[in-house]
Amino acid sequence: MSDTTPSFDDTGEEVEEDIHDLHDPIVREKARPRDGYQPIPLTLIFLFFGLLMWGGWYMGAYSGDWRVDVLYPGQQPAAERAEASASSGDGGEVSPDELTALGKRVYSQCSSCHQSNGQGVPGNFPPLDGARWVTNNPKVPIRILLHGMQGDVEVKGETYNNQMPSWGDQLNDRQIAAVLTYVRSSWSNDADMIAPSQVAKIREATSDRTSAWTASELEEVGLE
Ligand code: HEC
Repeated sequence: MSDTTPSFDDTGEEVEEDIHDLHDPIVREKARPRDGYQPIPLTLIFLFFGLLMWGGWYMGAYSGDWRVDVLYPGQQPAAERAEASASSGDGGEVSPDELTALGKRVYSQCSSCHQSNGQGVPGNFPPLDGARWVTNNPKVPIRILLHGMQGDVEVKGETYNNQMPSWGDQLNDRQIAAVLTYVRSSWSNDADMIAPSQVAKIREATSDRTSAWTASELEEVGLE
């Protein structure tokens, strides 16, 4: 395209260029306007969906499951904090809040039977809410979790006779302390926390036991 600034001839005189000559190339190269809407170019559509998919993939790959400790490094969820301090072997110092948070997570393994509201299933699985086996002497629920429970047991006026599986192999001292702390302080329950060291002691003391506890054996241990 030619320059639109004035041109000069050899003598320094300004030469007028024909305005039509100047604009000719522009007019020639412009696309003719059409009636109505123009279809969106296919490449733009592909680009749009391509970006959308890339965005989805990116979030999937880098969101870190939206975990607080990933998105805000330095912050750790309470449940993980409780687990972490367990493996660091710092003598088991852990706050009741951390235990409760971890316990809530562990409790997902109990809720199929005892239900998430702790009410159990009438005739099959006894309630944990308001149960004296849960809220009294910690030695009793710790034993129940370590080795299970079987036979007749009376809970809140109802008699149950079923099998409670043992958890001593699946759950470590910290997780048992956590789930019991959670259960003892949830719903209408308001009992003290249970420390991992208490679980460790009883695990040690009952290590040669292989069968599940019966209610009468546990009565002997002492509910109060
Ligand atoms: C497969 C079902 C099942 C699962 C899972 C289960 N329990 Fe039980 N639980 C029972 C049964 C059945 C009894 C009653 C046993 C009996 O009849 O002697 C019981 C009894 C108990 C008791 C004493 C009775 C009472 O209601 O207070 C406690 C405490 C207890 N379970 C806690 C737990 C905790 C904590 C978990 C999760 C770690 C758990 N249970 C997982 C079935 C289950």
